[in-house]
Amino acid sequence: MKKLIFAMIFFVMPGVVLASAGFSCGKIDCYKAKTDLNNKASLQRGVKLFVNYCMGCHSTKFMSYKRMATDLDLSDDQVLKNLMFKDGKIGDYMTTVKPAGMNPPDLSLVGRSRGKDWLYTYLKTFYVDESRPMGVNNLAFADVGMPHPMWELEGMKKAVFKKDKHGMSEFEKFEIISEGTMSPAKFNQATLDLVNYLDYTGEPAKLIRLDLGIKVILFLIILLIPAYLMKKAFWEDIH
Ligand code: HEC
Repeated sequence: MKKLIFAMIFFVMPGVVLASAGFSCGKIDCYKAKTDLNNKASLQRGVKLFVNYCMGCHSTKFMSYKRMATDLDLSDDQVLKNLMFKDGKIGDYMTTVKPAGMNPPDLSLVGRSRGKDWLYTYLKTFYVDESRPMGVNNLAFADVGMPHPMWELEGMKKAVFKKDKHGMSEFEKFEIISEGTMSPAKFNQATLDLVNYLDYTGEPAKLIRLDLGIKVILFLIILLIPAYLMKKAFWEDIH
């Protein structure tokens, strides 16, 4: 019995540690991204933001328009009309031509590599920094080489730092410099929708797995009934 318990701890612990570790958010603790892969409306808003604000630079070369349409309950027509900004076919992969002089990474797997909390924090912590080539910096990604992609929606903010007890610079708060077209609550929701979409892109099979997981558990519960009845029947003979 003791051996079994040890074996269980041995096999389960690394998984727990890995799952909880995630990516560091640099100067702050990551914000929690409360997203829901089952929320199709959120994923639909997310892909709209992605093609409008990110695909000018980033591809997701493992994701086809067709697969996205199917998974997100969109018709081929809706996708071709509203979400594809080039001449192409529904079976095409969601790629783009990189802008000259920049090397934006492909974001197919970023939901998995960085994790959704990191992505959410990253997209929420751009701040003005005139010393940087893009005029902005980021709390989760120091000296980032990307502009604030949704500044029109969020507006611009500056970061206030203070010295901690060891004399190290520590983030204190943001101060709004200019307002965006969205209220802070709306921008929050938009960012969550976009992160939800990137989480889905990183592992499209998750949608199916969630669904399957529920079915498997239901099946096991139903299986329990005959198993219990059978156990009773067997023991009756023995007594
Ligand atoms: C003008 C081009 C441009 C736009 C628009 C843009 N990005 Fe980027 N992005 C970049 C570049 C360049 C980098 C690499 C930055 C670096 O390494 O310093 C990057 C890096 C990233 C990273 C870090 C990837 C990693 O793991 O290192 C993420 C995540 C990201 N972008 C998400 C987005 C999202 C989401 C949007 C849309 C809301 C977006 N980007 C819009 C150019 C862009």
